[in-house]
Amino acid sequence: MTTSTIATFSSRLSRNLATRYAAAFFVTAAALLARRALNPLLGDYVPYITLFPAVAFSAWYCGIGPSILSILLSVIGAQYWLVPPVDSLRILNTAQSVGILLFLLVSLLIVGMGEVSLRELSARLLQLQDDERRRIARELHDSVGQLLTGLAMNLSVMRTDIERLIKTAGSITDSEGLVQEMSREIRTISHLLHPPLLDEVGLSSALPWYIDGFSKRSNIKVDLDFPADFGRLSHELETAIFRVVQECLTNIHRHSESPTARIRIKRSATEVRVLVEDRGKGISAEKQSEMATDGKPGVGIRGMRERIRQLGGTLEIESNSKGTAVIAYLPLANVSALSAVDAA
Ligand SMILES: Nc1ncnc2c1ncn2[C@@H]1O[C@H](COP(=O)(O)OP(=O)(O)OP(=O)(O)O)[C@@H](O)[C@H]1O
Ligand SMILES: [Mg+2]
Repeated sequence: MTTSTIATFSSRLSRNLATRYAAAFFVTAAALLARRALNPLLGDYVPYITLFPAVAFSAWYCGIGPSILSILLSVIGAQYWLVPPVDSLRILNTAQSVGILLFLLVSLLIVGMGEVSLRELSARLLQLQDDERRRIARELHDSVGQLLTGLAMNLSVMRTDIERLIKTAGSITDSEGLVQEMSREIRTISHLLHPPLLDEVGLSSALPWYIDGFSKRSNIKVDLDFPADFGRLSHELETAIFRVVQECLTNIHRHSESPTARIRIKRSATEVRVLVEDRGKGISAEKQSEMATDGKPGVGIRGMRERIRQLGGTLEIESNSKGTAVIAYLPLANVSALSAVDAA
């Protein structure tokens, strides 16, 4: 059922037609009984007096059909019980006919008026309903709507901020990682450039520390043979030995393809012997001749040789297809005396 139909029936007694017919019937019957009860007072004078309200009630609350039922019941009931001859439907004279006609006319008028005012009421109700809806819609739009728009804008700004913060947090974490990595690298580079252990404790600590790090970085297994009673040497000799080991291991990693390396350091009364060997592919004949003619090999071996020469020692390189061995001999004699001889 549509909204307008509901509104049209809003002043009806009930939406059920049978109920409305029954109501019209009972109201009319009650009106007839009431008029009959008034008989001792009124006699056959104004027989329809109590029936008009019943018709009006039916017209207003029960609808057209029940109203017509009420009118018919009223006419028949009045004619039968109230208008002489009583208990008969016979019409005696013109006055009675005119009475019936007048009652019918007035009743129809009441029904008509009821219908018209009901329609007006329904229309007015609909209009009021529309006005109210329009007002509520405007209120919602102007108050809650505006607030919601503001809230949505705030949320969107917050979302953008949070996304930016999440990105920034990610960058900060990355940067922290980079800083830690850099600090580790700088520490390693600094220690490799000049291990602090070499000055403080000597080769017995500096060599194992360097070899351990080298093995981890290169995956080359290094075997170190270093006497426990080796003792300390001069600063220059210890540095030279450390650099020889460092350069030889670097070369093994870069050029030899050997999975292992062996370092043997021995000390006699007069000299120190340092051997670093690998089981790699060896130095090519071409490279060896380049090095022999003092051509253009790298600075590694040349630098080693030069440093050892300055300390009065010698460097030998034996290389074949089974591997390379670098042997340095360093005299334990007075270094400054040899340097003085060199300078002369
Ligand atoms: N253990 C080794 N096994 C095989 N080849 C080697 C080995 N050591 C050195 N070589 C060869 O000898 C060459 C000279 O070595 P050297 O250390 O003088 O220079 P480099 O390692 O090439 O450069 P850098 O100046 O950086 O040390 C190398 O280029 C390499 O071909
Ligand atoms: Mg080198």
